[in-house]
Amino acid sequence: MKISFCLNGENVSLDVPADRRVIDLLRCDLGLTGTKEGCGSGECGACTIMVDGHTRLACLMLAGQLEDCRVETIEGVAGGRLDPVQEAFVEKGAVQCGFCTPGMVMSARALLDADPDPSREKIRAGLAGNLCRCTGYQKIVDAVRAAAAGMNRKGGRH
Ligand code: FES
Ligand code: FES
Repeated sequence: MKISFCLNGENVSLDVPADRRVIDLLRCDLGLTGTKEGCGSGECGACTIMVDGHTRLACLMLAGQLEDCRVETIEGVAGGRLDPVQEAFVEKGAVQCGFCTPGMVMSARALLDADPDPSREKIRAGLAGNLCRCTGYQKIVDAVRAAAAGMNRKGGRH
């Protein structure tokens, strides 16, 4: 089937099998390997992307569901410079093996878009669908708090 959508600000048209998963479309067909596949079954959040402004799990979506959608992956977040959320993850030591990080960053950005000054409890709730085997989550929550504080000082994300 033919599909067209906007990917990280660019229009894309592809001919793909109807049952192609979005995670495979991104990683294998388009070479965007920033989005990770952990569980492949909707449990870990490693494959989190944004579709029309909402977080979605790329392992649970089929290519046809992207038709006419606005899709953002971690590659779109990390353009010429790191996003404030990414900077905060680095500064606070919230990245260890890094496998969960792209999905965490996508979920954290969505959280901060909805609530620019979330409490630690709200951050934990907002990131509850993203699993991390390394950090114990404390530093990730610290990073999101720091990103929120930094963005609020500057009056919003650049
Ligand atoms: S790989 Fe999609 S939720 Fe785990
Ligand atoms: S940093 Fe390794 S899984 Fe989160």
